[in-house]
Amino acid sequence: LRIEWDKEQAEKDGYEHYMLKEIYEQPRALRNTMTGRIDEAGQQIVFPDLQLSTETVKGIEKIYIVACGTAYHAGMIGKHVIESLAQIPVEIDVASEFRYRRPLFKGKTLTIVVSQSGETADTLAALREAKRNGSSILAITNVVGSSIAREANHLITTNAGPEIAVASTKAYTSQLIAFYLLGLYLAQEKETLPSEERKSLIAALQKLPEQVETVLAHAEGIHTFAQSIKDEGHLFFIGRGLDYAVSQEGSLKLKEISYIHSEAYAAGELKHGTLALIQEGTRVIALSTQAELHEKMVSNITEVKARGANVLGIALEDNVELHRSVDDVCLIPSTDALLTPILSVIPLQLIAYYTSVALGNDVDRPRNLAKSVTVE
Ligand code: G6P
Repeated sequence: LRIEWDKEQAEKDGYEHYMLKEIYEQPRALRNTMTGRIDEAGQQIVFPDLQLSTETVKGIEKIYIVACGTAYHAGMIGKHVIESLAQIPVEIDVASEFRYRRPLFKGKTLTIVVSQSGETADTLAALREAKRNGSSILAITNVVGSSIAREANHLITTNAGPEIAVASTKAYTSQLIAFYLLGLYLAQEKETLPSEERKSLIAALQKLPEQVETVLAHAEGIHTFAQSIKDEGHLFFIGRGLDYAVSQEGSLKLKEISYIHSEAYAAGELKHGTLALIQEGTRVIALSTQAELHEKMVSNITEVKARGANVLGIALEDNVELHRSVDDVCLIPSTDALLTPILSVIPLQLIAYYTSVALGNDVDRPRNLAKSVTVE
Protein backbone atom coordinates (compact mmCIF):
# COMPACT_ATOMS: atom_id res chain seq x y z
CA LEU A 1 0.00 0.00 0.00
CA ARG A 2 1.31 3.39 -0.97
CA ILE A 3 -0.32 6.56 0.27
CA GLU A 4 0.25 9.66 -1.83
CA TRP A 5 0.48 12.78 0.29
CA ASP A 6 -0.29 16.08 -1.23
CA LYS A 7 1.53 18.52 1.05
CA GLU A 8 -0.86 21.38 0.35
CA GLN A 9 -3.93 19.20 1.01
CA ALA A 10 -2.41 18.06 4.29
CA GLU A 11 -1.76 21.64 5.33
CA LYS A 12 -5.34 22.56 4.49
CA ASP A 13 -6.48 20.09 7.11
CA GLY A 14 -9.35 18.76 5.01
CA TYR A 15 -10.68 22.21 4.10
CA GLU A 16 -11.09 23.06 0.44
CA HIS A 17 -9.17 26.33 0.79
CA TYR A 18 -6.74 27.93 3.23
CA MET A 19 -9.18 30.80 3.64
CA LEU A 20 -11.95 28.52 4.92
CA LYS A 21 -9.51 26.76 7.22
CA GLU A 22 -8.36 30.11 8.59
CA ILE A 23 -11.94 31.31 9.08
CA TYR A 24 -12.64 28.19 11.14
CA GLU A 25 -9.38 28.58 13.07
CA GLN A 26 -10.55 31.90 14.50
CA PRO A 27 -11.80 30.62 17.88
CA ARG A 28 -8.36 29.10 18.52
CA ALA A 29 -6.51 32.14 17.19
CA LEU A 30 -8.48 34.47 19.45
CA ARG A 31 -7.77 32.29 22.49
CA ASN A 32 -4.07 32.36 21.60
CA THR A 33 -4.06 36.16 21.36
CA MET A 34 -5.52 36.35 24.88
CA THR A 35 -3.32 33.67 26.43
CA GLY A 36 -1.06 34.98 29.19
CA ARG A 37 -2.46 38.50 28.94
CA ILE A 38 -5.35 38.26 31.40
CA ASP A 39 -4.74 37.39 35.06
CA GLU A 40 -6.22 34.19 36.46
CA ALA A 41 -9.02 35.95 38.30
CA GLY A 42 -10.08 37.65 35.06
CA GLN A 43 -9.71 41.06 36.68
CA GLN A 44 -6.67 42.62 35.08
CA ILE A 45 -4.77 42.79 31.84
CA VAL A 46 -1.18 41.70 32.23
CA PHE A 47 1.21 42.50 29.42
CA PRO A 48 4.52 41.04 30.60
CA ASP A 49 6.11 41.54 27.18
CA LEU A 50 4.84 45.03 26.40
CA GLN A 51 7.07 47.12 28.68
CA LEU A 52 4.81 50.13 28.84
CA SER A 53 5.06 51.39 32.41
CA THR A 54 2.18 53.12 34.20
CA GLU A 55 4.14 56.36 34.09
CA THR A 56 4.67 56.10 30.32
CA VAL A 57 1.00 55.27 29.74
CA LYS A 58 -0.11 58.25 31.81
CA GLY A 59 2.13 60.52 29.76
CA ILE A 60 0.76 59.57 26.31
CA GLU A 61 -0.92 62.64 24.82
CA LYS A 62 -1.83 61.32 21.42
CA ILE A 63 -1.88 58.05 19.51
CA TYR A 64 -1.45 57.52 15.79
CA ILE A 65 -2.57 54.23 14.25
CA VAL A 66 -1.01 53.43 10.89
CA ALA A 67 -1.60 50.37 8.68
CA CYS A 68 -2.69 49.10 5.24
CA GLY A 69 -5.62 47.06 3.98
CA THR A 70 -7.30 44.80 6.47
CA ALA A 71 -4.91 45.87 9.23
CA TYR A 72 -6.09 49.46 8.65
CA HIS A 73 -9.68 48.30 9.15
CA ALA A 74 -8.65 46.68 12.44
CA GLY A 75 -7.10 50.05 13.35
CA MET A 76 -10.44 51.80 12.76
CA ILE A 77 -11.92 49.62 15.50
CA GLY A 78 -8.77 50.17 17.61
CA LYS A 79 -9.27 53.94 17.51
CA HIS A 80 -12.81 53.58 18.79
CA VAL A 81 -11.75 51.15 21.53
CA ILE A 82 -8.79 53.19 22.81
CA GLU A 83 -10.67 56.49 22.76
CA SER A 84 -13.66 55.12 24.61
CA LEU A 85 -11.77 53.05 27.20
CA ALA A 86 -8.56 55.00 27.79
CA GLN A 87 -9.67 58.48 26.75
CA ILE A 88 -6.58 59.19 24.66
CA PRO A 89 -7.16 60.96 21.32
CA VAL A 90 -6.35 58.68 18.38
CA GLU A 91 -5.76 59.60 14.75
CA ILE A 92 -5.70 56.86 12.12
CA ASP A 93 -4.04 56.88 8.72
CA VAL A 94 -3.40 54.61 5.81
CA ALA A 95 0.40 54.08 5.86
CA SER A 96 0.97 55.27 2.27
CA GLU A 97 -0.73 58.58 3.15
CA PHE A 98 0.84 58.99 6.58
CA ARG A 99 4.41 58.67 5.36
CA TYR A 100 4.10 61.58 2.93
CA ARG A 101 1.70 63.95 4.67
CA ARG A 102 4.09 65.26 7.33
CA PRO A 103 1.94 64.55 10.38
CA LEU A 104 2.52 66.75 13.44
CA PHE A 105 4.34 65.14 16.31
CA LYS A 106 3.77 67.38 19.30
CA GLY A 107 4.09 66.18 22.88
CA LYS A 108 4.32 62.53 23.80
CA THR A 109 2.92 60.43 21.00
CA LEU A 110 2.64 56.70 20.60
CA THR A 111 2.42 55.37 17.05
CA ILE A 112 0.74 51.99 16.71
CA VAL A 113 1.62 50.15 13.51
CA VAL A 114 -0.55 47.16 12.63
CA SER A 115 0.67 44.54 10.18
CA GLN A 116 -0.04 40.84 9.87
CA SER A 117 3.21 40.14 8.02
CA GLY A 118 5.31 42.84 9.66
CA GLU A 119 6.91 43.46 6.27
CA THR A 120 4.55 45.80 4.40
CA ALA A 121 6.79 48.47 2.84
CA ASP A 122 4.51 51.45 3.42
CA THR A 123 3.82 50.49 7.03
CA LEU A 124 7.52 50.01 7.72
CA ALA A 125 8.31 53.39 6.14
CA ALA A 126 5.59 55.03 8.25
CA LEU A 127 7.09 53.43 11.36
CA ARG A 128 10.51 54.88 10.48
CA GLU A 129 9.03 58.31 9.78
CA ALA A 130 7.26 58.35 13.17
CA LYS A 131 10.41 57.17 14.93
CA ARG A 132 12.48 59.85 13.21
CA ASN A 133 10.03 62.37 14.63
CA GLY A 134 10.57 61.13 18.17
CA SER A 135 7.43 59.03 18.54
CA SER A 136 7.50 55.80 20.46
CA ILE A 137 6.38 52.80 18.35
CA LEU A 138 4.11 49.93 19.30
CA ALA A 139 3.75 47.16 16.73
CA ILE A 140 0.83 44.74 16.52
CA THR A 141 1.96 41.91 14.27
CA ASN A 142 1.56 38.22 13.65
CA VAL A 143 5.19 37.60 12.74
CA VAL A 144 7.58 37.71 15.68
CA GLY A 145 10.88 38.18 13.83
CA SER A 146 9.55 40.56 11.17
CA SER A 147 11.14 43.93 10.33
CA ILE A 148 8.28 45.84 11.94
CA ALA A 149 8.50 43.74 15.11
CA ARG A 150 12.26 44.32 15.30
CA GLU A 151 12.16 48.06 14.75
CA ALA A 152 9.33 48.82 17.19
CA ASN A 153 9.89 49.84 20.82
CA HIS A 154 6.92 47.85 22.07
CA LEU A 155 5.40 44.71 20.64
CA ILE A 156 2.09 42.85 20.80
CA THR A 157 2.21 39.61 18.85
CA THR A 158 -1.18 38.34 17.74
CA ASN A 159 -0.17 34.65 17.82
CA ALA A 160 -2.83 33.69 15.27
CA GLY A 161 -0.57 31.16 13.53
CA PRO A 162 0.51 31.36 9.86
CA GLU A 163 -2.05 32.93 7.53
CA ILE A 164 -1.68 31.66 3.95
CA ALA A 165 -4.78 32.93 2.11
CA VAL A 166 -4.27 36.39 0.64
CA ALA A 167 -7.60 37.56 2.05
CA SER A 168 -6.96 38.08 5.75
CA THR A 169 -9.43 36.65 8.27
CA LYS A 170 -7.95 35.28 11.50
CA ALA A 171 -5.21 37.92 11.48
CA TYR A 172 -7.91 40.64 11.46
CA THR A 173 -9.94 39.25 14.36
CA SER A 174 -6.80 38.59 16.41
CA GLN A 175 -5.67 42.19 15.75
CA LEU A 176 -9.03 43.27 17.16
CA ILE A 177 -8.40 41.19 20.29
CA ALA A 178 -4.97 42.85 20.59
CA PHE A 179 -6.68 46.26 20.47
CA TYR A 180 -9.24 45.25 23.12
CA LEU A 181 -6.46 44.04 25.41
CA LEU A 182 -4.42 47.18 24.77
CA GLY A 183 -7.40 49.51 25.28
CA LEU A 184 -8.22 47.77 28.56
CA TYR A 185 -4.58 47.88 29.64
CA LEU A 186 -4.22 51.60 28.93
CA ALA A 187 -7.51 52.25 30.76
CA GLN A 188 -6.35 50.19 33.71
CA GLU A 189 -3.04 52.04 34.01
CA LYS A 190 -4.68 55.44 33.51
CA GLU A 191 -7.62 54.52 35.75
CA THR A 192 -10.16 55.73 33.25
CA LEU A 193 -12.52 52.75 33.58
CA PRO A 194 -14.21 51.55 36.80
CA SER A 195 -12.79 48.13 37.73
CA GLU A 196 -16.27 46.54 37.62
CA GLU A 197 -16.67 47.61 34.01
CA ARG A 198 -13.22 46.32 33.19
CA LYS A 199 -14.03 42.94 34.74
CA SER A 200 -17.28 42.62 32.85
CA LEU A 201 -15.57 43.54 29.57
CA ILE A 202 -12.82 40.97 30.25
CA ALA A 203 -15.49 38.32 30.90
CA ALA A 204 -17.23 39.23 27.64
CA LEU A 205 -13.89 39.10 25.81
CA GLN A 206 -13.20 35.60 27.14
CA LYS A 207 -16.59 34.43 25.87
CA LEU A 208 -15.91 35.56 22.30
CA PRO A 209 -14.10 32.44 20.97
CA GLU A 210 -17.07 30.29 21.96
CA GLN A 211 -19.48 32.78 20.40
CA VAL A 212 -17.48 32.75 17.16
CA GLU A 213 -17.93 28.95 17.20
CA THR A 214 -21.69 29.49 17.48
CA VAL A 215 -21.71 31.86 14.49
CA LEU A 216 -19.68 29.37 12.45
CA ALA A 217 -21.99 26.51 13.43
CA HIS A 218 -25.04 28.37 12.12
CA ALA A 219 -23.59 29.53 8.83
CA GLU A 220 -25.63 27.36 6.41
CA GLY A 221 -27.85 30.22 5.20
CA ILE A 222 -24.81 32.15 3.99
CA HIS A 223 -24.24 29.65 1.23
CA THR A 224 -27.61 30.40 -0.32
CA PHE A 225 -27.12 34.13 0.13
CA ALA A 226 -23.75 33.97 -1.66
CA GLN A 227 -25.38 32.12 -4.57
CA SER A 228 -27.97 34.88 -4.80
CA ILE A 229 -25.41 37.73 -5.12
CA LYS A 230 -22.82 36.09 -7.32
CA ASP A 231 -24.10 37.69 -10.53
CA GLU A 232 -24.57 41.18 -9.11
CA GLY A 233 -22.56 44.02 -10.66
CA HIS A 234 -22.27 45.89 -7.40
CA LEU A 235 -23.35 45.84 -3.82
CA PHE A 236 -23.45 48.15 -0.79
CA PHE A 237 -22.53 47.70 2.85
CA ILE A 238 -23.91 50.18 5.34
CA GLY A 239 -23.41 50.72 9.07
CA ARG A 240 -22.74 53.33 11.72
CA GLY A 241 -19.86 53.61 14.19
CA LEU A 242 -18.16 50.26 14.74
CA ASP A 243 -20.53 48.72 12.20
CA TYR A 244 -19.25 51.15 9.59
CA ALA A 245 -15.67 50.01 10.24
CA VAL A 246 -16.74 46.35 9.92
CA SER A 247 -18.65 47.22 6.72
CA GLN A 248 -15.37 48.47 5.23
CA GLU A 249 -13.72 45.15 5.98
CA GLY A 250 -16.69 43.16 4.61
CA SER A 251 -16.62 45.17 1.40
CA LEU A 252 -12.85 44.72 0.99
CA LYS A 253 -13.16 40.94 1.50
CA LEU A 254 -15.84 40.70 -1.18
CA LYS A 255 -13.87 42.80 -3.67
CA GLU A 256 -10.61 40.92 -3.10
CA ILE A 257 -11.88 37.44 -3.87
CA SER A 258 -15.21 37.68 -5.70
CA TYR A 259 -14.20 40.70 -7.86
CA ILE A 260 -17.70 42.12 -7.38
CA HIS A 261 -17.63 45.86 -6.96
CA SER A 262 -18.88 46.89 -3.56
CA GLU A 263 -18.73 49.96 -1.39
CA ALA A 264 -19.10 50.55 2.32
CA TYR A 265 -20.89 53.67 3.48
CA ALA A 266 -21.50 55.31 6.79
CA ALA A 267 -25.27 54.87 6.77
CA GLY A 268 -25.92 58.51 7.64
CA GLU A 269 -23.98 59.61 4.54
CA LEU A 270 -26.23 57.74 2.11
CA LYS A 271 -28.53 60.67 1.52
CA HIS A 272 -25.56 62.85 0.50
CA GLY A 273 -25.04 61.07 -2.78
CA THR A 274 -25.00 57.30 -2.68
CA LEU A 275 -28.75 56.96 -2.41
CA ALA A 276 -28.87 57.94 -6.10
CA LEU A 277 -27.35 54.54 -6.91
CA ILE A 278 -30.03 52.52 -5.16
CA GLN A 279 -32.57 51.06 -7.59
CA GLU A 280 -35.08 48.25 -7.74
CA GLY A 281 -33.26 45.09 -6.65
CA THR A 282 -29.96 46.70 -5.50
CA ARG A 283 -28.41 44.45 -2.88
CA VAL A 284 -27.50 46.04 0.45
CA ILE A 285 -25.93 44.47 3.52
CA ALA A 286 -26.84 46.50 6.62
CA LEU A 287 -25.06 46.02 9.93
CA SER A 288 -26.94 47.04 13.05
CA THR A 289 -25.33 45.78 16.24
CA GLN A 290 -25.22 49.00 18.25
CA ALA A 291 -28.35 49.44 20.40
CA GLU A 292 -27.93 53.19 20.67
CA LEU A 293 -27.74 53.59 16.88
CA HIS A 294 -30.41 51.05 16.07
CA GLU A 295 -33.25 53.47 15.42
CA LYS A 296 -31.08 55.50 13.07
CA MET A 297 -30.14 52.33 11.18
CA VAL A 298 -33.77 51.29 10.82
CA SER A 299 -34.51 54.64 9.23
CA ASN A 300 -31.56 54.24 6.81
CA ILE A 301 -32.76 50.74 5.92
CA THR A 302 -36.23 52.13 5.30
CA GLU A 303 -34.72 54.76 2.99
CA VAL A 304 -32.99 52.16 0.78
CA LYS A 305 -35.96 49.80 0.85
CA ALA A 306 -38.23 52.60 -0.31
CA ARG A 307 -36.01 52.81 -3.44
CA GLY A 308 -36.38 49.09 -4.07
CA ALA A 309 -33.24 47.70 -2.36
CA ASN A 310 -33.10 44.13 -1.15
CA VAL A 311 -31.53 44.17 2.32
CA LEU A 312 -29.69 41.58 4.38
CA GLY A 313 -29.51 42.72 8.00
CA ILE A 314 -26.77 41.62 10.38
CA ALA A 315 -27.86 42.13 13.95
CA LEU A 316 -27.72 40.82 17.50
CA GLU A 317 -30.03 37.90 18.27
CA ASP A 318 -32.24 39.96 20.59
CA ASN A 319 -32.92 42.61 17.96
CA VAL A 320 -36.41 41.53 16.91
CA GLU A 321 -37.37 44.88 15.50
CA LEU A 322 -34.79 44.68 12.71
CA HIS A 323 -36.37 41.48 11.34
CA ARG A 324 -39.38 43.46 10.25
CA SER A 325 -37.43 46.03 8.27
CA VAL A 326 -35.16 43.75 6.18
CA ASP A 327 -35.58 40.97 3.59
CA ASP A 328 -33.18 38.51 5.22
CA VAL A 329 -31.45 38.53 8.54
CA CYS A 330 -28.29 37.00 9.93
CA LEU A 331 -28.18 36.95 13.71
CA ILE A 332 -25.11 36.96 15.93
CA PRO A 333 -24.91 36.26 19.68
CA SER A 334 -25.24 39.18 22.09
CA THR A 335 -22.11 40.67 23.58
CA ASP A 336 -20.82 44.00 24.87
CA ALA A 337 -21.43 46.77 22.28
CA LEU A 338 -17.68 47.34 21.88
CA LEU A 339 -16.97 43.70 21.02
CA THR A 340 -19.55 43.08 18.29
CA PRO A 341 -17.08 43.50 15.36
CA ILE A 342 -15.46 40.12 16.14
CA LEU A 343 -18.84 38.43 15.64
CA SER A 344 -20.37 40.53 12.87
CA VAL A 345 -17.36 40.18 10.58
CA ILE A 346 -17.64 36.36 10.49
CA PRO A 347 -20.75 36.24 8.24
CA LEU A 348 -19.09 38.85 5.97
CA GLN A 349 -15.96 36.70 5.62
CA LEU A 350 -18.15 33.72 4.75
CA ILE A 351 -20.22 35.71 2.24
CA ALA A 352 -17.00 36.70 0.43
CA TYR A 353 -15.68 33.14 0.58
CA TYR A 354 -18.79 31.37 -0.72
CA THR A 355 -19.37 34.00 -3.42
CA SER A 356 -15.81 33.50 -4.66
CA VAL A 357 -16.30 29.70 -4.65
CA ALA A 358 -19.63 30.03 -6.49
CA LEU A 359 -17.87 32.07 -9.18
CA GLY A 360 -15.08 29.53 -9.53
CA ASN A 361 -12.37 32.03 -8.58
CA ASP A 362 -8.99 31.20 -7.12
CA VAL A 363 -10.02 31.93 -3.54
CA ASP A 364 -6.62 31.74 -1.88
CA ARG A 365 -4.68 33.52 -4.63
CA PRO A 366 -6.89 36.26 -6.06
CA ARG A 367 -5.76 38.01 -9.23
CA ASN A 368 -3.40 41.02 -8.98
CA LEU A 369 -2.93 40.71 -5.21
CA ALA A 370 -0.08 39.60 -2.96
CA LYS A 371 -0.16 38.44 0.63
CA SER A 372 2.60 40.77 1.62
CA VAL A 373 3.43 43.94 -0.32
CA THR A 374 7.11 44.65 0.26
CA VAL A 375 7.50 47.23 -2.50
CA GLU A 376 5.97 50.66 -2.64
C1 G6P B 1 -1.78 43.16 1.30
C2 G6P B 1 -2.72 42.00 1.58
C3 G6P B 1 -3.86 42.45 2.51
C4 G6P B 1 -3.28 43.04 3.80
C5 G6P B 1 -2.32 44.20 3.47
C6 G6P B 1 -1.55 44.63 4.70
O1 G6P B 1 -2.41 44.09 0.49
O2 G6P B 1 -3.24 41.49 0.37
O3 G6P B 1 -4.65 41.32 2.85
O4 G6P B 1 -4.31 43.49 4.60
O5 G6P B 1 -1.35 43.80 2.51
O6 G6P B 1 -0.72 43.58 5.09
P1 G6P B 1 -0.05 43.45 6.49
O7 G6P B 1 0.81 42.22 6.42
O8 G6P B 1 0.77 44.70 6.68
O9 G6P B 1 -1.13 43.34 7.50
